[in-house]
Amino acid sequence: MNHFQRKRGELCCEDVPLAELAAEVGTPAYVYSTATLRRHARVFKAALRGLDVLACFAVKSAPNLALLSLLAEEGFGFDIVSGGELYRALKAGGEADKIVFSGVGKREEEMEAALQARIHQFNCESEEELEQLSRVASRARKVAPVALRVNPEVDARTHPYVATALASSKFGVPAGRVRKAYRLAASLPGLKVVGLACHIGSQIDELGPFVEAAKKMRALFLQLRADGHDLRRLDMGGGLGVPYRERGRQPASPQRYGEALARALSGLEATVIFEPGRLLVANAGVLLSRVLLRKQGHAARKFVVVDAGMNDLLRPALYQAHHELEPVGRPRRGAEVVDVVGPVCESADVLAKRRRLPPLQAGDLVVLRTAGAYGMAMASQYNARPRPVEVLVDGRSWRVVRARESYADLVRGESV
Ligand SMILES: Cc1ncc(COP(=O)(O)O)c(C=O)c1O
Repeated sequence: MNHFQRKRGELCCEDVPLAELAAEVGTPAYVYSTATLRRHARVFKAALRGLDVLACFAVKSAPNLALLSLLAEEGFGFDIVSGGELYRALKAGGEADKIVFSGVGKREEEMEAALQARIHQFNCESEEELEQLSRVASRARKVAPVALRVNPEVDARTHPYVATALASSKFGVPAGRVRKAYRLAASLPGLKVVGLACHIGSQIDELGPFVEAAKKMRALFLQLRADGHDLRRLDMGGGLGVPYRERGRQPASPQRYGEALARALSGLEATVIFEPGRLLVANAGVLLSRVLLRKQGHAARKFVVVDAGMNDLLRPALYQAHHELEPVGRPRRGAEVVDVVGPVCESADVLAKRRRLPPLQAGDLVVLRTAGAYGMAMASQYNARPRPVEVLVDGRSWRVVRARESYADLVRGESV
């Protein structure tokens, strides 16, 4: 359920017509719905009622301060992967004691900043990182609360670029080495072992891989406790998928996910940490763009060139991802098969390939749906294109929560 619906034929975000927004702020623009984000946050928490939960939003998926601040208001902590994300999370009003620092490589100054802020936990991903963190903590006369991210070797059956628990993945410590790694962690002066962590991948649409991971993690957790480690937290990562397509196979619901995980992890006497990103924010955002022109290619190939490109929304080029695309105004009668492409000088700059759409003309507004997660987060200035404006709608009102970049922004910090 999201709040991007047609009213008298015109696509709106909550009560604001998207055409009105485009006239005010221009295109391309990311537009987010407050009601959708709050609703997703509440549905997620309600789905996990059966467990003692700490929910930490994955900042990487949508790092805008206004979105983070909304989620902090909804009681979420944050999952971060860099000093920059720590800065953002704190600036947005996030509580340090609800911040988990993930990532396969952390710089020492990033560790120091997180120690100074007194974050909830560091998720380390190698024996070397444990030693490094212990050194940094000891130097700062602190003790770092730590969990080790294990690779439970579960095939998440998702796009290979977002599967993170295959035997070949760079992430986590292989399960066979975990007990030894915990003995090491327990012996290091700058660390306090508090938990165990995993994250098996992203855009996972079936429950099987999550249940398999939960069972493996449960067994390992109990084994480590029996070894004498005082584990209190089990971090199951993020990864539940969202419906990018209007029709066809739909991902498991948060309710079924919550029930399945509560069953697999019941009676563990641990706080279960979750790090959802996409699930909360993907359908709370769209990318609003304008048609620049139509172009006839070879034979019957027709192109619709829009003013948003792969630098604004990378997912189609990077993952061959599908985003539903539709006109903002009342759709014209008829249909044609077109490639909707951006202006970037790359053949990969195709936002919608061989898509059957109502006829589009120069000047029309279109939206790419489900663009709230890993959309603006992955935007770049490639081709010297300023990044889009971000707008947050709340009922009938809206505000710019990140200004469109200017040409001066493009060259900031450079010199001739
Ligand atoms: C460690 C970690 N946690 C959480 C997430 C969020 O995943 P998602 O947005 O699929 O929920 C990611 C993203 O890949 C991640 O790497």
